[in-house]
Amino acid sequence: MTGVKELAYVVYEVSSLSDWEHFAVDLLGMQLADKTADCIALRTDEKAYRWLVRQGPADDLAASGYEVENDAALDEIAGRLASAGVEVTEGDAALAASRKVDRILTTADPMGNRIELVTGFADAGSPFHSDVLLGEFVTGSGGAGHQVLLSKGVARESYLEFYEGLLDFRISDIIVEELAPGVVADLIFLRCNPRHHSVAFGDMPHPKRTHHFMVEVTDVRDVGTAYDRCMDAGQPFEMTLGMHPNDHMFSFYVRTPSGFSVEYGWGGLLVDDDTWQVKTLDRLHSWGHRPPEVVAELLSQGKDAH
Ligand SMILES: [Fe+2]
Repeated sequence: MTGVKELAYVVYEVSSLSDWEHFAVDLLGMQLADKTADCIALRTDEKAYRWLVRQGPADDLAASGYEVENDAALDEIAGRLASAGVEVTEGDAALAASRKVDRILTTADPMGNRIELVTGFADAGSPFHSDVLLGEFVTGSGGAGHQVLLSKGVARESYLEFYEGLLDFRISDIIVEELAPGVVADLIFLRCNPRHHSVAFGDMPHPKRTHHFMVEVTDVRDVGTAYDRCMDAGQPFEMTLGMHPNDHMFSFYVRTPSGFSVEYGWGGLLVDDDTWQVKTLDRLHSWGHRPPEVVAELLSQGKDAH
């Protein structure tokens, strides 16, 4: 079966473009590729952009762009979607041009997240440059990064039928952790290339469609310096430095100006399809990833004790 090959881009709708430009460029180290009155395009590599951030009230994910190999693969997937009764529409030339792709099909997953299936995602005309990074962002065959989306009460079988059954994602693992009595986080992680996951779905209380987007860097020092830049700028954190037991990502979580988070990570695991075993784990974090208020409390206790 031919499926999607990578998470190529995401589109966010945000209420403050200027806050997002500062956050993405100055704090995360992305490159501003394009800027109009109502949209900014952000680069993390040789591609024309990886994030499109447009003005609007939602402060949430607006679309996820997945690239497929070629026209034949796109037609095959479109056929599968249509046979399964999923509405799929060929985008016009104007939409393809705005996304800098050759062809684009639009559809929606069972949660109502807009999905764009594309071919020929364009490169930028110049090398990637960050004013602050020591290394680079990890993209390539693993795509732009990964994102965690909320299942919003939709049954797991339903969205797996879409992502696994129609788009050919593979299950990497599942994590179920009781965060507090009666509050259970239950996440399933899906891959479409060697990156441990390109998308994960969580059944947990959260007001947005998306919990976070993860960008990965090649140089661990860039995790530390990004952490300092976010801290110095007063950007709110969701979780301090820590590590996940499944994809081994060393990372921190900082809130975007729209309220959902960015995970800024290093050292993510690559999966070999031939040897990988699907497991269910019982914790989301190997260590760290603590809420900042918990850390502040612990540090102040230490101070009081002396
Ligand atoms: Fe993540």
